This record gives sequence, structure tokens and C-alpha cells, in this order.
Amino acid sequence: MPHLKVMPFDSSVISQRLSQSKIMTLHAKSLTGEDELIGIAYKGEEFLLQLKPDTKATLLKYDKVTRPLKVNLLKEALAEVSHVLGLEVLSSNIAISHTKSALSSEYFKKIEDFENPDFTFDTISVEVGFGSGRHLLYQAMQHPDTLFIGIEIHTPSAQQVLKQIALQGLHNVWVVNYDARLFLEMLPSNSCKQIFVHFPVPWDKKPQRRVISNSFVKESMRVLQKDGRLELRTDSNKYFWYALETFFSVPKVEVEIRKNERLDITSKYEERWLKQEKDIYDVYVKCKDISKNKILAFDFNFNIVKYRKGLEDDLPKKTLVFDGYFIHFERVFKAGEEVLLIKCAFGSFDRPEHKYILVDATSARYFVSPPVKTAINHQAHQKIMELLNV
Ligand SMILES: C[S@@+](CC[C@H](N)C(=O)[O-])C[C@H]1O[C@@H](n2cnc3c(N)ncnc32)[C@H](O)[C@@H]1O
Repeated sequence: MPHLKVMPFDSSVISQRLSQSKIMTLHAKSLTGEDELIGIAYKGEEFLLQLKPDTKATLLKYDKVTRPLKVNLLKEALAEVSHVLGLEVLSSNIAISHTKSALSSEYFKKIEDFENPDFTFDTISVEVGFGSGRHLLYQAMQHPDTLFIGIEIHTPSAQQVLKQIALQGLHNVWVVNYDARLFLEMLPSNSCKQIFVHFPVPWDKKPQRRVISNSFVKESMRVLQKDGRLELRTDSNKYFWYALETFFSVPKVEVEIRKNERLDITSKYEERWLKQEKDIYDVYVKCKDISKNKILAFDFNFNIVKYRKGLEDDLPKKTLVFDGYFIHFERVFKAGEEVLLIKCAFGSFDRPEHKYILVDATSARYFVSPPVKTAINHQAHQKIMELLNV
């Protein structure tokens, strides 16, 4: 990821240059450590850069929580900030790539695009964790009248598949680079025909990271139309039994099991298991119900929340656990006499949100964008408002 190593410098120059800067919007210092944050507004995107001072060199790098998807944008911003501040660069990896970023493709969709989605296809199918995308692309080619929404948490895989979409001239695939467990909640009820989950990571040692969970299956059944199917394919006997148990805990489904069934297309993972002559299990979960419509009408504004003296000291230091969700104020940065940037994690235990909250003398807001509109995030948000108001 892009970064610069620069000669250590007096960072008060950042605050001094803020008012004339076209790119820097704020400068915040950690209350508990050495690191600092620089707010950036560049080419229509808002994000943060981190400054990590050390004796020999200071590291200027991207911030994980607010990172823009276009890497070149980040590189340009790093170069611009170092230029504006007159920094002496010791080493860098920010050479701009002139090949067009796959993430600028019209088939690349952000989570926010699903708040008011414009599906121009009558039939929608979803593939979770498409990896190399062989199955997703094959399905899209075979069914040109169906929209295939592929969700993949691993950015390079999402980029590779976007390139393939362009090369193969497909018009019916959308790629979402996000956690599928959170994403499903963005889809309308009864909207999908199939949800494919092929060879999910079994996470034997960290089961809370598994894609299949009780809430994932419930969400899948809400999103699937009546007689639509959730299709799991796995080489892990343990995962197969775990998934089966999870599927049976959900009402109004029909479950069908197959063993060593050949599909028309073989993924890279599957090829490996076939060579080892491993058993492959398919579990089809048919939705037998029509679900209520879901309206994404959660309000993530902070209303009357604003900075008050001592707020930074009053914030709970430990993780707060509530019924079904948690809140953890991880770090507090001060960006002025009455301005705080609070880094926090919250929401459900297996799908936490990571956000900054910018609180100043008149208002508060999520920096740079509100959380995904899920019911759990909204509950956590209301509790955060209470905690900031106390
Ligand atoms: C073992 S690979 C299988 C890839 C592909 N389905 C295949 O059959 O070759 C699992 C994939 O799921 C993705 N993944 C894991 N957790 C995910 C999540 N929560 N949301 C979306 N994708 C996820 C991983 O990045 C990885 O590409």
C-alpha cells in the first residue's frame, strides 16, 4: 500500500498550513500515542492519512478505515501533501500507474450503491467469495438475462474479475469488494434467485469468521425469492456438518444434499481437491416463504451531539458489550481545542464496523461516511449518541 518515508519534521507545520491548503482539511494528534492524522479532501473523496513519527524517519501512509479504493488517488494525495509541507522524502512507493484502475469500472459497485439500487434485470443471483471468479463469469456468460452480483472481500481478486468482465465483454456482472456477511442486508427482500457460496474458508480455529452463520442464513432466506436457493459447495466435512446444523435451525426451508456432484465449471480450489480425490459436498437450501419488505430507513445523524469539555476523558476505555452488539472507542485524536476525531469499532461481534466520528463545537458526524444501514449498526449508533451526550 502506498506510503512515504520522510525526514522527521515538526508536524505543527501541518496545522499552520491548513487554512491555505486545498487538500488538507484537518490535523489531529493522538491523545495516547505519537501518531497523527491528516484529513484529506481530494478529487471529490474524503479520507485520512496517518503520520507515524520515528527517530530516523517519519512514515506517511494511508489510513485503513477511510482508505479510498482508487490507489492512484491515494498516491497523488501523498505526493501533494509531501510537496505542500516541503517534506524531504527518504523512500517512497508512490509511482503512479497509468493503467486504468479496474475499480473505476461501471461494474464495480460500492455498498452505498445498494441504498437505492437500480436493478435493470428481472433475475438476480449472488455469489459470495468468488475468488478467481471462474464460476461467477461462467454463470454470467450462460445466463445473459440474469444479473450476477459477486461479493469478494479480497481486493486483488475483485480487481482481477473486473478486468475479466471487460475482456469478456460481459454486461451482467456487478462486483462488490465487501464483507458478504454485511452486504446481504443491503438487498431487497425476495429479490434473488440463487446465492452461491462455493468453497468458503472453513475457519476451523476461528468459527466466528465463517460466512455461514445463523444470521447469514436468515438474511439469505429473506433475500431469496420463494423457491430460490442458497447453494453451498465445500470440500470440508467439518464445515459441511456445521452448515447443515445451521441450515436446519432456520424455519421454512427445504434442504437437499449431494456428494461428489460434477458441475459444468471447476474452480481453482476445486481442481486442487479433485486431484487429491477429496469428497465434495453440495447443500442446497430452498427458501419456502415470502419475506416482508425491508426498508433501509435508519438515520445515522448525531442530532444534538457536540463537543463538550472533558468528553475525551469521559469516553469508556473498555469494550462495552450489549445484547447483540458492542462498542469500543479505540483511539481519540484531538484536532483542535474543541474538535475530536474518535476511532471506534461497533456493531455485531462477527461483523463489526470501523469508523471515525468527528465531533466539534457545533455538531458530530461519521468521518467520512455513515455505517452500513443495518439494524444492529443502528442500535449501536443510538447507544454511541447516548455515550457522547452524557
Ligand atoms: C477458499 S476461497 C474460494 C473461492 C471460490 N469460491 C472458488 O471456489 O474457487 C474463499 C473466498 O472467499 C472470500 N471470502 C472470505 N470471507 C468472505 C466474506 N466475509 N465476504 C466475501 N468474501 C469472502 C475469500 O477472499 C476467498 O476469495
